[in-house]
Amino acid sequence: MTLKRQRIAELLTEEPGREVLAKGWVRTKRGNKNIVFIALNDGSTINNIQVVCDLSEFRPDDVLKDVTTGACIAVTGKLVESIGGGQKVEIRAGSIEVYGTADPEKYPLQKKGHSMEFLREIAHLRPRTNTFGAVLRIRHAMAYAIHKYFNDHGFYYLHTPIITASDAEGAGAMFQVTTLDMDNPPRKEDGRIDYSQDFFGRHTNLTVSGQLEGELGAMALGNIYTFGPTFRAENSNTPRHLAEFWMVEPEMAFCEIDENMDIAEDFIKSLVSYALENCMDDLLFLNNMFDKDLIDRLKGVVNTEFARITYTEGVDILEKSGEKFEFPVSWGVDLQSEHERFLVERHFKRPVIMTDYPKDIKAFYMKQNDDGKTVRGMDVLFPKIGEIIGGSQREESYDKLMARINELGMDTSCLWWYIDTRRFGTAPHSGFGLGFERLLLFVTGMANIRDVIPFPRTPKSAEF
Ligand code: 4AD
Ligand code: MG
Repeated sequence: MTLKRQRIAELLTEEPGREVLAKGWVRTKRGNKNIVFIALNDGSTINNIQVVCDLSEFRPDDVLKDVTTGACIAVTGKLVESIGGGQKVEIRAGSIEVYGTADPEKYPLQKKGHSMEFLREIAHLRPRTNTFGAVLRIRHAMAYAIHKYFNDHGFYYLHTPIITASDAEGAGAMFQVTTLDMDNPPRKEDGRIDYSQDFFGRHTNLTVSGQLEGELGAMALGNIYTFGPTFRAENSNTPRHLAEFWMVEPEMAFCEIDENMDIAEDFIKSLVSYALENCMDDLLFLNNMFDKDLIDRLKGVVNTEFARITYTEGVDILEKSGEKFEFPVSWGVDLQSEHERFLVERHFKRPVIMTDYPKDIKAFYMKQNDDGKTVRGMDVLFPKIGEIIGGSQREESYDKLMARINELGMDTSCLWWYIDTRRFGTAPHSGFGLGFERLLLFVTGMANIRDVIPFPRTPKSAEF
C-alpha cells in the first residue's frame, strides 16, 4: 500500500506508532556522526516536524549531503514519541527523497534573522520564512472570516469591475488602462488624445473603489459587499500605503450613520476575535518575535467599546492638547495619521469612530448635514494604524447630490448611471471600506504594509 502524504499540521497532532510520509522544505539540519536532526516545514503550520536520522540504521546516508537548508524533500518513516521537549511526535526517518536541492553557497535564506527590507528584495522566497508563513496564513484566515461574517449576516458578495470609467473618490491618482500606442496615439484636431479609438471607446482606469457599483447592488439586493483589489497612483511612500491594495466594502440599504458605525465596529471585532480563536500559533510567534503587546492589543479591541466623536470635537481635543504636531491642526484640515493616533493612543486609549467631517475634505457622495458645512462621513481610527475604515451615509436626495456634483464641477457623463439610483427608488443607505492590508497590519503587528501582502506594489516597485 502506498503511503499518502500528510500535512505537518496534521502529523503533529497524531498519536505515535504509524508509518508516515511528509514532504516539505528543510529549515535546519544539525547533528553529528551518529545522528542527524532535520527541521521540516511544509507551510501548513508555523511548527516544524523534527526528522531524526539514526545513522546506524539510515541507509544510504549519502542522500543527507543534499539535505540542506531550503532543499525540498520527502521523508518516509515512523511517527514516534519525541524525547526532546517542544513537540509530541517526530519522524524516525526510514528513507528520504530529495526533490530539489538548494545550494548552501547561494540560497538567500541560508541564515536566520534577515531584515524585513532584505526580505522584500527576495519577495519570491520570503513566504518560506516563519514570519511570512505566519502573515500569509493569517491573511487567508482573515479573508475567510470576512466572507463568513457577511454570509452569516445576510450580505451578498457582489463582484464590481476593476476597469472603470468613473473616479469614485474624486481624489485623482488613477492608473490609466489603454491599448492605444502610447508612442503614437491617435489625436483629435485640438491635439488631445482621441480615446474614442481606445479599446473601450473611452478613457478608462483601474478602479479606486467598488463603492459606486456597490451602491447599485444595495439598491436591489439590500445588503451587499465587495472584496477585491483597488488601485491608487498616489505617490505616498509610507508604511501604510500601497498602490494596489484589497478593500472590503459593504453597502447597506435602509441603514443610517449610527447603524453603519455599529456594523463597522461589530465587523472588525468579529474579525479580530476570529484571528484570536483560529490563528493562535501564528499570533504567538509574531507576538514573541516582534511585538510583545500584540495579543493584548487584539484582545483589548475585542473587549472595548469604540469611542465615538465628531470631527469638530476631535479637532477641539487636538487643539487643546498642547501637543506639537508636524502638521498643525485647525477646523477644516484633513487629519494626518499623527493626529488620528494621538486621539486613539493617547487621549481615548481605544479605537475611535469619527463622524461629521467638513464637506470639502470628503467625497461628493456623502450625505450632507443640515448645517451646510459637514457631511455624514465616518472614519474608524485604530492604534498604530490611524484610519483603518472610511465610510459614510450616502446622499440619497437627487437634488442635493446634483447640487454637490455641480458645485464641484464634476463631469456627469461618466456618472449618469450612479445618479439614476437617486431618480428611481432612492433610499437611505450607508456603507464603508475596510483596507484589508491595514486590518492585517493591526492583526499581525507588522510595521510596514509591504510586509502583509505577498507582492507589494508601491512607487518604483513592481518586480515580483
Ligand atoms: O477612505 P477610503 O478612500 O474610502 C473609500 O474608498 C470609500 N469608497 C469606501 C466606502 O465607503 N465604500 O478608503 C477606504 C480604506 C481606508 O480607510 C484605508 O483603510 C484603505 O481603504 N486605504 C488604503 N490602504 C492601503 N493603501 C492605500 N493607498 C489606501 N488607501 C485607502
Ligand atoms: Mg478615507
